[in-house]
Amino acid sequence: MPVITCIEDLRVLAQKRVPRMFYDYADAGSWTECTYRANCSDFAPIKFRQRVAVNMENRTLRTTMVGEDVRMPVALAPTGFTGMQHADGEILAARAAERFGVPFTLSTMSICSIEDIAAHTSKPFWFQLYMMKDRAFIERLIARAKAANCSALVLTLDLQVLGQRHKDLKNGLSAPPKLTLPNIVNMMTKPRWCLGMLGTQRRGFGNIVGHASDVSDLSSLSAWTAQQFDPALSWADVEWIKQRWDGKLIIKGIMDPEDARLAVQSGADAIVVSNHGGRQLDGALSSIAALPGIVDAVGSEIEVHMDGGIRSGQDVIKALALGAKGVYIGRAFLYGLGAMGEAGVTKTLEIIERELDLTMAFCGLTDVRKVDKAILIPGTWQVPQSYILPGDLA
Ligand code: GLV
Repeated sequence: MPVITCIEDLRVLAQKRVPRMFYDYADAGSWTECTYRANCSDFAPIKFRQRVAVNMENRTLRTTMVGEDVRMPVALAPTGFTGMQHADGEILAARAAERFGVPFTLSTMSICSIEDIAAHTSKPFWFQLYMMKDRAFIERLIARAKAANCSALVLTLDLQVLGQRHKDLKNGLSAPPKLTLPNIVNMMTKPRWCLGMLGTQRRGFGNIVGHASDVSDLSSLSAWTAQQFDPALSWADVEWIKQRWDGKLIIKGIMDPEDARLAVQSGADAIVVSNHGGRQLDGALSSIAALPGIVDAVGSEIEVHMDGGIRSGQDVIKALALGAKGVYIGRAFLYGLGAMGEAGVTKTLEIIERELDLTMAFCGLTDVRKVDKAILIPGTWQVPQSYILPGDLA
């Protein structure tokens, strides 16, 4: 077993242990993948001010996200097909998050169902919702999230249409996987994964199959999303959801200050600056580059979260410095899950916590709630020009 010291070690191990079809699904962006790559690489130019000879004892990373206490401001992002990275993946990740003390967000497109997660955890988790044409199904999904005591609904607005990910098409991505010859040959090199899958019944989309009318077998994500995801989605639908969900509402997929202002008007409790991990609009800004403009526009009115490209505690603290109240990790925890199951997700969280804690100390701070732009070298980050709207210039 290799010594694991960073998220990249977990990624390498996950690539060895997870069948290609599912590893590629998680670790890819849309089309040329330029936004997917920029999500990570745009963190590098942002530089810290190193401080010395300040008392760095008694440090704390504890804070809140949408009013909930968190051990550090890092939630697990909603990710599709998580139970295909590892058998029962969503249950394992939710348990790891609960034991660690950070929020877990279950995706609509999960393998384990809302009820599975509720049965295997004792604290409330968050549920991510996609708006679909079948509104009766959405009503039932919201009711199921309520019945499972979910404490926040994360409404994703950036998947009205699906960005093309070349590898998914080439691999014929599906759940359960199609047993084609290349897939069988590839799976035979992943015995741990196969054993896990043989030991579970959870191999389809647990929130959907058997719950949406006419869906008894859902194999192709792209075909189903093309048919069900609603290209006519509008802010009026957000109002419709608010009438059915009275808990915390987090709107995910905001990349533009004008949309951020509309999200504030919609009465949401938080927004997530997110380009869907570089999986939707290829050529969009990276999330970390978009963040300061959105914080400038609405940061005093609403809690701003971000996701995309976070692979270290250093990345987390840069996002916090630029105004995020919390961040989400997707691939970083999926690598841990694919590599080592529940222990791997815990390992991901431990690595990020330690990096965040030590980096905060190097910057001369002891309380994560005090992190702001003052820890960054001016000029190493900026508000994109295109974000300065005509009204702001007056
Ligand atoms: C779905 O959320 C995806 O990004 O595949």
